Amino acid sequence: MANIFPIEKFDKLETPFYYYDTHLLRRTLNTIKDELKSHPQYEVHYAIKANANPAILDIISKCGFGADCVSGGEIEAAIKAGIPASKIAYAGVGKTDREIMLALEHNIMCFNVESFEELEIINMLAGEKKTTANVAIRFNPDIKAHTIDNIATGKKENKFGIAIDMIDEVIEEVKSLGNINFKGIHLHIGSQILEMEDFVKLSSTVNTLVETFESKGLPISDINVGGGLGIDYSDPDFGAVPDFKSYFNVFKQNLKLNERQKLHFELGRSIVAQCGTLISRVTYVKRAPIKEFVILDAGMNDLVRPAMYKAYHKIENISSPYEPKCYDVVGPVCESSDVFGKDIMLNETHRGDFIAIRSAGAYGESMASTYNLRKLPLSYTDTDLQ
Ligand code: LLP
Repeated sequence: MANIFPIEKFDKLETPFYYYDTHLLRRTLNTIKDELKSHPQYEVHYAIKANANPAILDIISKCGFGADCVSGGEIEAAIKAGIPASKIAYAGVGKTDREIMLALEHNIMCFNVESFEELEIINMLAGEKKTTANVAIRFNPDIKAHTIDNIATGKKENKFGIAIDMIDEVIEEVKSLGNINFKGIHLHIGSQILEMEDFVKLSSTVNTLVETFESKGLPISDINVGGGLGIDYSDPDFGAVPDFKSYFNVFKQNLKLNERQKLHFELGRSIVAQCGTLISRVTYVKRAPIKEFVILDAGMNDLVRPAMYKAYHKIENISSPYEPKCYDVVGPVCESSDVFGKDIMLNETHRGDFIAIRSAGAYGESMASTYNLRKLPLSYTDTDLQ
């Protein structure tokens, strides 16, 4: 078990809470920055949906990355954190008029447009504002990424992007609209992808799309390949910093860029997942005929990924020095799916022990809710507790 938590500091705190290791976050960001030195045409935009905690956003903003936003709220959070609008990409299938106006007011880097219908509204609203909107077209490449079905986005049946077979229509439409400034293309095939072959396929689709656009007289200055790089949920200590070198090299080797073009990435999980841990206390250890349940004071409202996607998170008893035993680790919420782990080995557990649910920095706090009228989880960084 990794002894990386200041348990004596936790003793005084109300649980559950998210604990963020800002040293690890900085190490991860510095690894990316070092890699980018070999790829001067690459730009990283942090996908705010993964974690919008102000302390986290502040560190990422200071490191100079842009933002990938999917709502007006995220655009406001990015700007509040000091991320310049000129580095904000805005995706999402259902941008409202109000959100589009907000993005136009800030003159963001780019709308990633997901349908003809949306493109026409953006063109109209930009016209009303007597401005032009920077747009990239999000394509749906019909690629099945190797990941949980619920978080794959690049198949034809998914709601995202415009089908690649509609490219000719897209080109006609883009040429006909007067209030848009066409920048390029955007694709995102899913999340928690560890199979580099998926990104090879993505690159090859990008090459074909770019060739088609340029051969029909529409030059492309910006290519955005989304996010999706996965992390090591089974070994958060050994795999603390994802393999960004191999990831960027896949694109270097497979995606053709000319000297005028920029390649944008929208990384979320790979930046923040490993620096966050959900810390909770054991309320009861409940004996039952066929198993023992460790009942935590954290529930699916605090971290929904296991209940929602059957996602695996490593669970550790960070208080107990005893030999491991087999338990189901569950929350207090009134749903049978409020389970963090079934039949898992934990050091023999007692009421009051601290339980750490690892790799929870991405899509943990940002997806928390008040279901059952529970409080939203608190959060602390390592520096808060010094
Ligand atoms: N760009 C776009 C357009 C996206 O939709 C997403 C994630 C990203 C970038 C960032 O992807 P990442 O680098 O984090 O894989 N709640 C789910 C994940 C949903 C991802 C949604 N889109 C989970 O907990 O696994």
